[in-house]
Amino acid sequence: MFEGASKSYLNRKSVHKIIADHAAEGDGLKRAMGWASLMSLGVGGIIGAGIFVLTGTAAANYAGPGVMISFMLSGLACAFVALCYAELASLIPVSGSTYTYTYVTLGEIFAWIIGWNLVLEYAAGAATVAVGWAGYFNRVMQGFGVHVPPELTTAYFADPTAHGAPPGAVHGLFNVPAAGIVLLLTALLVRGTSESTLFNNVIVAIKVTVVLMVIVFGAAHIDQANWSPLIPENAGEFGTYGWSGVVRGASVVFFAYIGFDSVSTAAQEAHNPQRDVPIGIVGSLIICTILYIAVAAVATGVVNYKELGVPDPMALVMDRTGVSWLAWAVKLGALAGLTTAILVLLYGQTRIFFAMAHDGLLPPIFARLHPTFRTPAVSQILVGVVVALAAGLLPLDILGEMVSIGTLAAFALVCLAVLRLRRMHPEIRRPFRAPGIPWLPVAGILSCFALMVALPLDTWLRLLIWTVIGVAIYVFYGFKHAKRLH
Ligand code: ALA
Repeated sequence: MFEGASKSYLNRKSVHKIIADHAAEGDGLKRAMGWASLMSLGVGGIIGAGIFVLTGTAAANYAGPGVMISFMLSGLACAFVALCYAELASLIPVSGSTYTYTYVTLGEIFAWIIGWNLVLEYAAGAATVAVGWAGYFNRVMQGFGVHVPPELTTAYFADPTAHGAPPGAVHGLFNVPAAGIVLLLTALLVRGTSESTLFNNVIVAIKVTVVLMVIVFGAAHIDQANWSPLIPENAGEFGTYGWSGVVRGASVVFFAYIGFDSVSTAAQEAHNPQRDVPIGIVGSLIICTILYIAVAAVATGVVNYKELGVPDPMALVMDRTGVSWLAWAVKLGALAGLTTAILVLLYGQTRIFFAMAHDGLLPPIFARLHPTFRTPAVSQILVGVVVALAAGLLPLDILGEMVSIGTLAAFALVCLAVLRLRRMHPEIRRPFRAPGIPWLPVAGILSCFALMVALPLDTWLRLLIWTVIGVAIYVFYGFKHAKRLH
């Protein structure tokens, strides 16, 4: 049944039609960006909850100070994927474009699976960042002497006895601040936000400053004893410390690198996409990898890795320096950076749903715009409510690992789509051509897969359930309603 569906997409006309449609849309764009602007766009899109929050989770639960090596491994996998991503994105540089290309190259069912996994990247990603935001928010509130009862700042499904749980953890009811920020930002998005470049640049500058402050001021308080052993001895099971823990840590901190797609979507605005886009992508990945390794080194050097499994590890690190203005600056800066990260993810999710509804894979309500605000209001509210529930009920590690596994699966399909499209349509003009075909996409697929394999079995089971729900929706809805291109 799926075969018929996918075959209908494998015709030449549809590929060229989609490119022509989008090229017409992109024609008016100014080619104003050089590699340096692309790189700053990339760094801005990449830095977020991953480094501010998941560094601590990965160190405490899996890798110990070896989380520094985890960041190197993950950065390398991202470099392979990012170059493939850039090739697809340079053909149609709009958000959701990878979904469109998978649709054309691998067929409807794969496109649906990518779209469904992108829900994990965006919606579960927004929930993850919201939990991180709440961690910093609580710390700021405590600074003002406001102590919210821990039951109302802890997820219902967080296990207070789990390995890596912070000392004194309670059984939670609902993470109210995490759900609250999601609902607040949803309200903003329903009204519509006009993206201002100045505002974005200010937030990027704040984020990078906060990261640099942690590195520079934290370095003076490193106790080298905390780094020994660099890789704690394996605790007897796969993934809990030892080298397997370092690789599992890499799959968790993979989250910290997500966002390089912002560079690829700007391909149409680059002076010279063939040169500037790879420099922008690889350059921003290199900068982030260096910053991340340095932050991981400082964090595990200042605080023992066993204590880092909190929602606000950088605040903890700065508290240990004893310089109070510094701790405040880092907490407030992290809060600002995380707020915009949630906003972008919630926004992105509805735009992907919009594309999927447009293709008939989701009900038309997801493509409906509010008559006054011109935003997909109903979709935004639905997404907001579900994300708020997830942020209130689920703990950070479960959310973060779901984001990683879902995004890794989607990225592996992106690499596959690049290979396939080169085979099927070598004649298409590609503004950016990924180097090293076919080895680069193959390396991308293998490294995504390796990082997926390193994730805990529970995460795989959750992915399986997620996929079963997705396939059921496809069988009962998408398959019947898809608008097939001919
Ligand atoms: N890389 C982004 C972050 O860490 C998704 O928040």
